[in-house]
This record gives sequence, structure tokens and C-alpha cells, in this order.
Amino acid sequence: MRKAFFKDVELAVLEGVYEPREDSYLLAEAVDVKPGNRVLDMGTGSGIQAVNAALAGAREVWAVDVNPKALENARLNFERLKLKAKLVVRESELFEEIPEGERFDVIVFNPPYLPSEGIEDLAVDGGVEGRQFLDEFLEQFKFFLAPGGSAYFLQNDLNGAEKTGEMLGRLGIRHEMAAHKKVSFEELFVFRCWA
Ligand SMILES: C[S@@+](CC[C@H](N)C(=O)[O-])C[C@H]1O[C@@H](n2cnc3c(N)ncnc32)[C@H](O)[C@@H]1O
Repeated sequence: MRKAFFKDVELAVLEGVYEPREDSYLLAEAVDVKPGNRVLDMGTGSGIQAVNAALAGAREVWAVDVNPKALENARLNFERLKLKAKLVVRESELFEEIPEGERFDVIVFNPPYLPSEGIEDLAVDGGVEGRQFLDEFLEQFKFFLAPGGSAYFLQNDLNGAEKTGEMLGRLGIRHEMAAHKKVSFEELFVFRCWA
């Protein structure tokens, strides 16, 4: 079993699950979860964002992924770390299996964002412009955000930070750049949005 280290904790990473990288860490460091928050971690992978939320004092964390192995991984890390937050896992294509009316104080998404001809590797392939899942997420997340809540998501320069800004403007969603970092072949950006 692979391991990743984050904020003095050891995360288990199961076979077939995205191993936390620079993008995961940048996003986790940018997210502001307050004690008692209800948090949705979209595309949970190893569960790093869900664990981060629980360590910050979230009372309830939903870990969502299309990959059932990722849900098993998030649950395993919650158990290993004896986290107190209530964990809800959902196998879902983005928000499809999240019941209408569920509202979260914080929504986090580290999407598959690399430009790709098709979708072969669900963890990284984002379609031709790398925006297939990001754009769908941008259209939907506000319906699941609690009043005063924030959504954080990651993207890089290859799939168009400007395009994201334009799209959020068109959707009437306020936003800011919460973090950015240049890594080997790309520049990573974390957006924070609020309604
Ligand atoms: C880049 S990984 C991020 C994993 C983890 N959140 C992190 O920060 O390290 C993207 C995750 O999104 C999941 N995913 C891909 N398409 C999805 C979809 N349509 N709905 C929900 N999750 C999806 C993948 O299975 C993968 O676990």
C-alpha cells in the first residue's frame, strides 16, 4: 500500500486511487474549513481533502467519487486516523447522487483536469480542453452551497484560468484566486467561489 504524508498524518493510498500530489496539497492548504462545518469533497480519491476538513473540525464530511475504490480509501483513512467527523460516502458522477436540498458550507473539488483525447484515466483525464468535469461542476455547485458557504477548486494553466473567470462571471458567481503555484510543467490555481 502506498503512503502519503500530510499535516503530520500518514494517508494510505490504495491501488487504483490517485496519489496526492502538488495539486492536492495546494488545494488542501487553501481551503478554509471552520469547526462545525458540513463539507463536500468531490472526487475524493485517497480522501485527502475530506481528511483535511475533518482535521479542521468539520462535523460532517461527504466523500464523493465515481471510483468505488476511492470511497473505500477515504473510509480507510478516516478509520486509521480515528477522525471524529461523520463520514458519508457516495458513488456519484459529480452531483448526480447527492439529494436535492443537501447544503454544504464548503465544497472542494480537485478535478481530473489534464487535456486528453478521451477519458481513459478517470483520475486525470479532463477531455479535449481538460474542462469536461470542471465546467459541469461550475454549472452545478451553487445548488449545493449553504448560505455564506464557499466552493474551492483547482485547475491549471493548460485548461484556461481565464475561461473559468469568464464562465463564473456569466453564471453570476463571485470568485477570487485563493492560491497559485508554479510546479514543473504547469501553473496551478485554486479558485474560491461564493454565491
Ligand atoms: C485529481 S484526482 C483528485 C483526488 C483527491 N481529491 C486529491 O486532491 O488528491 C480526481 C478524482 O476525481 C474522481 N472523478 C473523476 N471523474 C469524476 C466524476 N465525474 N464525478 C466524481 N468524481 C470523479 C477520480 O476518480 C479521482 O479520484
